[in-house]
Amino acid sequence: MKIATILGSLNKDGSCAHALKIVQDEILKSNNVDLILIDPADFTLPFPGQLIPKSDEKKLQRILTEAAGIIISTPEYHGGLSSVVKLIIENLGYPSVLSGKPVSLLGVASGSIGAIKSLEQLRSICSHVGALVLPSPVSIANVRSVFDVDGNCKNEKVEQRLKTLATEMIKYAEQHIYPRHAFEEQVRENL
Ligand SMILES: Cc1cc2nc3c(=O)[nH]c(=O)nc-3n(C[C@H](O)[C@H](O)[C@H](O)COP(=O)(O)O)c2cc1C
Repeated sequence: MKIATILGSLNKDGSCAHALKIVQDEILKSNNVDLILIDPADFTLPFPGQLIPKSDEKKLQRILTEAAGIIISTPEYHGGLSSVVKLIIENLGYPSVLSGKPVSLLGVASGSIGAIKSLEQLRSICSHVGALVLPSPVSIANVRSVFDVDGNCKNEKVEQRLKTLATEMIKYAEQHIYPRHAFEEQVRENL
């Protein structure tokens, strides 16, 4: 079974990447799960309507189609989700490859109310394109005091919530999505 994580920032050493790393490490502890890392820096994605040579939207769609579940992270920028995440979603097709897939959400913000606004927007967009948004998104407030310069989490509760985000996604995908994927694969093999 494959689970994908999407980094919602181009800042590889930023707090969004630090938080997502904890989720990824927890996924890697599971023997029967392959982790797919989606780093926006690795993909050339056009704005809608823009024609650019050698764009990667089909590649991105192919990769994510294989995922049984997807964890999307975003920093809060100006009271909203990052344009990086929005651009990724805009490149996932219409209908979207997120349709019918479980999606879990993670947001980081330097402010004290956390990434509430960006997570609400992201939830709404994901639901709109047909994703099954799992409950209990993780919003990390005051994020600059949560991770040290090496990216270590200094807050046990936050760390636990990030790990739970990973395990809940695995549990959901194992119970509800993976059996369907395996069945479809078997049918294809027998054709
Ligand atoms: C352009 C910009 C806008 C931001 N807007 C907000 C905001 O509205 N609310 C907030 O709490 N933090 C805001 N922040 C702080 C970021 O959420 C915080 O620095 C976060 O760690 C960025 O994650 P990253 O380094 O992984 O990209 C903003 C930061 C930037 C660069």
